[in-house]
Parts: sequence; C-alpha cells; structure tokens
Amino acid sequence: MESAILQLSYLIGSVTFIMGLKMLSHPDTARKGNLIAAAGMIIAIFATIFLYEHGGQRLHNYVWIFAALAIGTVVGTMAAKKVQMTAMPEMVSLFNGMGGACAMLISLVEYNKPEVKETGTMLVIALGMLIGTVSFAGSVIAWGKLNGRIKDKTIPGGQAINFIIFAGLITLVVLVVGGFFPAMPGLFYGILALAALYGILFVMPIGGADMPVVISLLNSFTGVAAAFGGFLYNNPVMLTGGILVGSAGTILTILMCKAMNRSLKNVLIGSFGAQKASASGEAKEQGNYKEISLNDTAVLMAYAQKVMIIPGYGLAVAQAQHACHELEKVLEEKGVEVSYGIHPVAGRMPGHMNVLLAEADVPYEKLLEMEDANEQMSTTNVVLILGANDVVNPAAKEDPSSPIFGMPILEVEKAEHVIVNKRSMKPGYAGIENELFFRPKTSMLFGDAKKVLQSLVSELKQL
Ligand code: TAP
Repeated sequence: MESAILQLSYLIGSVTFIMGLKMLSHPDTARKGNLIAAAGMIIAIFATIFLYEHGGQRLHNYVWIFAALAIGTVVGTMAAKKVQMTAMPEMVSLFNGMGGACAMLISLVEYNKPEVKETGTMLVIALGMLIGTVSFAGSVIAWGKLNGRIKDKTIPGGQAINFIIFAGLITLVVLVVGGFFPAMPGLFYGILALAALYGILFVMPIGGADMPVVISLLNSFTGVAAAFGGFLYNNPVMLTGGILVGSAGTILTILMCKAMNRSLKNVLIGSFGAQKASASGEAKEQGNYKEISLNDTAVLMAYAQKVMIIPGYGLAVAQAQHACHELEKVLEEKGVEVSYGIHPVAGRMPGHMNVLLAEADVPYEKLLEMEDANEQMSTTNVVLILGANDVVNPAAKEDPSSPIFGMPILEVEKAEHVIVNKRSMKPGYAGIENELFFRPKTSMLFGDAKKVLQSLVSELKQL
C-alpha cells in the first residue's frame, strides 16, 4: 500500500513537472506553472523521505535530512528574493552548479557502497560523476565570470589541452566501468579531478556575452546527470525531472544560438571575445550623430499614429519598465498605437524583456516577436529604442567582417523616425560600434532610461 502511495506521488510529481514546464512557456501562466511544479517536487521529496524503502529499511537520519532542507530553503528563498533581475543568470548558474554537485555526490556515495555493482550500474555512477562534476565546476566559473570576479582567459593551446583531458576522462570511465584495475580505486577519483579541471578550462575562455548559452548547456548537463541518479535509485520522478531539464536546456541552447546566428561550436570555441577586441580596436571614424530634445521627442510621438518601443539591456539596468508602461498608457490616451518589438536575445537572458515588461503589467498582446515587429516596421512612425544596442545594429546585416554578422536584428531603419535612448555613445555587450546612431533617420536621446521616460511622460501630459 505504502509503495503504491510512493509510486503515485512520483506520478503526480512527474505530471506536475510537465504541466509546469508547459505553463512556463507563457508569461500569464508562468508563475502558476512554477508553483505547480514546485508543489509536485515537494510531494515527491516528502514521499521519498517517509515512504521510500531500500533493502527493507526506511530513511532514518531525519535530523540530517531536515537540517539540510531547512538550510537550503532559507538560503534559496533569501537569494531569490534579493536577486536583481539583471543578476538572474548568475544565480541560475550557481543553482545549476548545485544540481551538478548533487549528481557528483550521489555518484561518490554510491561508488563507496560495499555491495558488488553490475557494469550498467558502474557506468551510470561513472557518467553521473563525470557530467555532474563538469556541470558543477563549469557553472561556478560561469557564475564568477558573470559577476566579474573571474575574467575571460584564453589559454594558449587550450583546445588541444581540453581534448587531451576529455580523452583522458573517457579512458578513465572505460577502465573504471570495465573493472580493469579493481585494486585501484584512485582511478574513480581521477574522473572527479579531471572532470573538475575540464569544467573549469572549458568555460574559462568563453566570452561574457556567450555565458547564457553556456549556462543553458550546463543546465542540460545537470539534467542528464540527475536522470542518471533516477536510474540508480529506480526513481521515476528524478528520471523525468532530469530528462525534462536535459531536453529543455538543449532546446534553449539551440534557440539562443539560432537567435545569434552562431553555431554551438562557434560559441564554445569561437573566441568571440578575441574578435570583439579586434573589431572595437579597428573602430572607424563614424561621423556625426544628432541629438533630439525631450520636448521634440514628445511632440513627434504624440502626433504619430504608430510607435514601437524596442527594449534592451539598458531598460533592465535602469529598472525603467514601469515608466515605460506609463509612457505607453499616455500615448494610447492620445490615440497613438503602441507596441513593443522584442528581439529573442535582447537583455542578458532568455525571455528577459518579456519578464521585465510583464512585471510592469504591459499587456502581453503588445509584445511583438522579432519577425512580426519587422513586418510592422515600415508602417511605424516612431521607433523608440530604450537601452538596446546590438539587437538593432545594422552591421549584423551589412558588414561581413563584424563579429555579429548574420545575427537577425530588428530592422528599425524601415520606420520613419528612429530615436535611441542610452547614456553615452559606448558600445553594447558585443563591444562593437553601432552605425545606426550615425544614420540620417536616427536621433539620440541621451540619459538614464528611467529618468528620460519619466520626463517624457510629463512632457506628453502637458501637450
Ligand atoms: P546591449 O547591446 O548590451 O546594449 C545595451 C545598451 O544599454 C548599452 O549600449 C548601454 O549604453 C545602454 N544602457 C545601459 N544602462 C542604461 C541606462 N541606465 N539607461 C539607458 N541606457 C542604458 O543590449 P541589447 O541590445 O539588449 O543586446 C543584448 C546583448 O546580449 C546581445 O549582444 C546579445 O547577443 C547578448 N546576449 C543575450 C542573451 C540573451 S538570451 N538575452 C544571451 C547571450 C548573449 P550606455 O552605456 O551608453 O548607456
């Protein structure tokens, strides 16, 4: 009976994970989806604690279990409440690293159990150790790079070194699983050491702007490592969860690469950072740009029929989403049609702009995906770019020598007027010049996005 309840709770857990994931794909349902999946996870955890049996024994070390649960809950809640939206990728990376560390520890514990293990079990233990450790070490490096504690570092001959380490890892796994040297348990710990080194060296040279792609890839590794845990413990909910994380991470990685028109190989070994340095080093003389006043901007927008707002990373930095929604409402009161053009990699993480604008209650129907936004561009009177740069850079279409060449962009120049709000002429994340700022249709509106938007709203109200 109890075993039936346990299996039922695992089924409930698995179903809630799938429902939650489905609901996460739309901002209206994302919050609820997250809660539903979390509830399923809690059911599965408590069912395991109280009902799981192995060799006729229940779990008994409750003090350890509940102390760990309590510490994890407090730390996780505090971190999630405190985190700035812009620091979200680094938190995700650290949490993901914890998942990898769990998989690593599971393998360590299982390896040290005295019972004789079949080859299949040994394979799962060794691979869980390898993938979990790579994910743990890599995620910690990614976290350090995102918060600026660790700098990008290209190691001479790095690719060859990584290849040798990888070959060494595979050899060790074969030796350990094949049981060739049973008297040498050190071989297993060799997997741990080499995998940690591999995780560090593999993430180290990857450029900062490519970090979200790497984090998503490491996320999928953690999923696979967790699924191995599911095999080991014959635990269906762990297996389902792991597979879902593994496949979702893989899909997201592919989507981000597509949105930047880069292959995964190029992200991992393409040393985007090096190209970036030479590109900005060769910055050409761009000519003049023109500025526009707040008042002129307000007039232009108030008498427009269609305005499209293009949000970017700067909007998130300025926390200007509420002011932006305010502007949209004032314009609509004046009969102007307002929409938002959302580039898939605007900001610093997948869905960054959608989450940011949803926080300010911007109706989801107003958010246009890049293709739709581009279709609407030629009938738009004013495009207002708020803290976006790379995602509107025409070099992506026009300059084959540009590191972002081939990346799909929001084609803002098809609109009648382009107004760019940012604080200076500094480049965006890719570190390259943006010729858009010097083009005849473009006017620069300098200042912090929030302050500019607030002033723009009051100007508009006076018109
Ligand atoms: P960016 O190209 O990084 O440009 C952001 C601009 O915002 C900067 O040029 C900055 O100029 C301006 N800014 C900063 N603070 C501001 C403030 N307080 N007020 C007004 N403006 C401010 O951003 P983007 O166009 O959103 O492009 C995203 C970049 O991240 C792309 O290169 C993309 O490939 C990369 N990336 C994104 C993702 C995902 S999934 N989102 C994943 C990987 C890579 P000033 O300093 O002059 O103000």
